[in-house]
Amino acid sequence: MRIARNIPELRVLLKTLRKQGGRIGFVPTMGYLHEGHASLIQHCRARCDSVVASIFVNPTQFGPDEDLNHYPHDLDRDQALCLNQGVTILFIPEATELYTTGFSTFIDPGPMGQVLCGSYRPGHFRGVATVVAKLFSIVQPDLAFFGQKDLQQAAILRRMVWDLNLPIELVVAPTIREHDGLAMSSRNAYLSIGERMRALCISRALAAATNAFQKGVRSATELVDTAKSLLGDLDELQYCELVDALTMDTIEGQVKRLAGLCVAGKIGRARLIDNVLLSEAADPTRLLSLVAIPD
Ligand code: PAF
Repeated sequence: MRIARNIPELRVLLKTLRKQGGRIGFVPTMGYLHEGHASLIQHCRARCDSVVASIFVNPTQFGPDEDLNHYPHDLDRDQALCLNQGVTILFIPEATELYTTGFSTFIDPGPMGQVLCGSYRPGHFRGVATVVAKLFSIVQPDLAFFGQKDLQQAAILRRMVWDLNLPIELVVAPTIREHDGLAMSSRNAYLSIGERMRALCISRALAAATNAFQKGVRSATELVDTAKSLLGDLDELQYCELVDALTMDTIEGQVKRLAGLCVAGKIGRARLIDNVLLSEAADPTRLLSLVAIPD
């Protein structure tokens, strides 16, 4: 595994890779890697000839009162995980490398960036779309991999790839969970043992709604109410909404399209998000990927 700490170093390594031919896959991360990231790297390895991963805690996607300065990190462990998972190139830029003095160009993801997490984290998806567009432009991968846990992020980035005609196949991979159902997240590190127990209400609520859907319930209100009734252990429920999984539009009435039941809430200082797809398709996560590359 080669490590690049700035853009010129990365470009030299990428040039050599490109000469070898083959597909280059990209897994962008903010570090403090867990099995969810390992799974993205595995998906990437299965589809590509080489894997570029990045670790960058992107300041523009954090609000002024958020956890930018406390975001968990362990670079040695991250590097070991990337090495073990077969990453070809690991890109670890400094903030000043990506945001040079006078930086002023941002990607605005439009209305999709304003709902759900966007309404609790103003500017968050603008920061995400901007840094991912920059990383795509620097790495120029053939495929890029994102987790279903960040369903809204995946929807916004899929739209961005399409709208900006980026020649990249965007792949969404299923959420990886702890043995008891808690969705893997770097922010789980903020939870005390008691909070960790209470956090299980989210995956249980989503499982109950999935169960109801599998038994034939199609009423959006009934599915949302089933989940909401089990979310009492959260310190703050931010949202529990049923949305079109591709557009993030609220679903009212009956579920007829690929739906995502999305939850966000706070436990202690951790803000946690999770979702499930409600669909009759055998492998609904696959439907989230953007396979056709725009002309
Ligand atoms: O999902 C994340 O870890 C981040 O939002 C991403 C995509 C790496 C952009 O900073």
